[in-house]
Amino acid sequence: MFIFQAKNLEKLGTEIFRVQGMPLERAKFIAKTLIEASLTGHDSHGVYYFVRYSERIRDGSIDPLAKPRIIKETASTALIDGHWAPGQIIAMDAVKNAVEKAKMHGISAVGCFRCNHIGRVGYYTNWAAAQGVVALMFVNVGNQNVTIFNGMERAFGTNPFSAAVPTGNFKPFLIDYATSVVADGKINVARSKGEKIPTHWSRNKKGEITDDPYAIKEGGWLLPFGEHKGYCLQILMELLGAIMTGSRSGFDEEEMPPSTNGVFVIAFDPEAFVGLDAFLKRTDDLLQKVKKIKPEPGKRALIPGEPEWETREKRLKKGIPIPEDTWNQILELADVLGIEVHV
Ligand SMILES: NC(=O)c1ccc[n+]([C@@H]2O[C@H](COP(=O)([O-])OP(=O)(O)OC[C@H]3O[C@@H](n4cnc5c(N)ncnc54)[C@H](O)[C@@H]3O)[C@@H](O)[C@H]2O)c1
Repeated sequence: MFIFQAKNLEKLGTEIFRVQGMPLERAKFIAKTLIEASLTGHDSHGVYYFVRYSERIRDGSIDPLAKPRIIKETASTALIDGHWAPGQIIAMDAVKNAVEKAKMHGISAVGCFRCNHIGRVGYYTNWAAAQGVVALMFVNVGNQNVTIFNGMERAFGTNPFSAAVPTGNFKPFLIDYATSVVADGKINVARSKGEKIPTHWSRNKKGEITDDPYAIKEGGWLLPFGEHKGYCLQILMELLGAIMTGSRSGFDEEEMPPSTNGVFVIAFDPEAFVGLDAFLKRTDDLLQKVKKIKPEPGKRALIPGEPEWETREKRLKKGIPIPEDTWNQILELADVLGIEVHV
């Protein structure tokens, strides 16, 4: 395991994307979102993607210069054709648009199609919460690697959901997770570290229980989280993320580009309801009461979002750990691109 400072990795990421034809501001933004994922502890969606996105730029899946365009719009809704630009650029356009419309009309919804992988979904909902707006993001992944509840074959992608709620003195409340037991990337991280995985994460291609992180690559599948309850959300992500926006569903035949995201954002402004100040005050009061709940012995009461903020503070000080295998792939990529690595 190597440990590097976030700001140095961000510079390296910016350079990696810039030399592959991305305008500097875009390259900086994509690197920043990936570093935020690593800082907040979501290594599965962090610097690991320097290499994956570079492969997708090379095979034409990500168009570094494409401009997302609104193709349908009302005062409170928009539908964006992402034109296969980098997913982060499309998702940020969508959430900015949704927040602007929610501030004007109380509530808004924005969908995106032809959208590449957007990375850590919580980046965008958290941005909205920082503007004082509640945001919900329903996302599907257009490649099958997760079965359904009681299923014995692949049906959907890891279909993540995120919601962020503005708070007063607390860090924003943040839900951000795959509707599979874990994000696919957590299995990639286990492979990079040479570790086994818990047996409730996936099945091998015969549907057998396994702790082998390679089983998913060899025809196995992930399981939806929370039995039938997680499964209900898994389908909701597909209905809103893919079907509502016209994005690729897990059941559609084409498989390229890989890991596309259909994105549907709903945003609303507390001013249209109880009022922002009253909302922030009572939200803080409520979260304070939750924090005072007596935990089980040896456990802690955490607010959703808190693990991310704690890890972020720690990693800002101590650096971001990167498995040797991931780091070697980044070095190989830098070499091919002619970039000198100074971290
Ligand atoms: N773009 C994509 O296609 C895609 C697909 C899947 C996942 N992802 C991303 O992968 C990342 C990881 O997903 P995951 O499913 O592994 O997440 P996870 O299982 O680590 O769950 C994270 C969520 O659970 C909350 N949480 C964790 N421990 C808690 C505790 N003790 N008390 C209260 N709340 C707690 C966190 O605050 C966060 O909201 C997410 O950022 C997600 O957006 C992206």
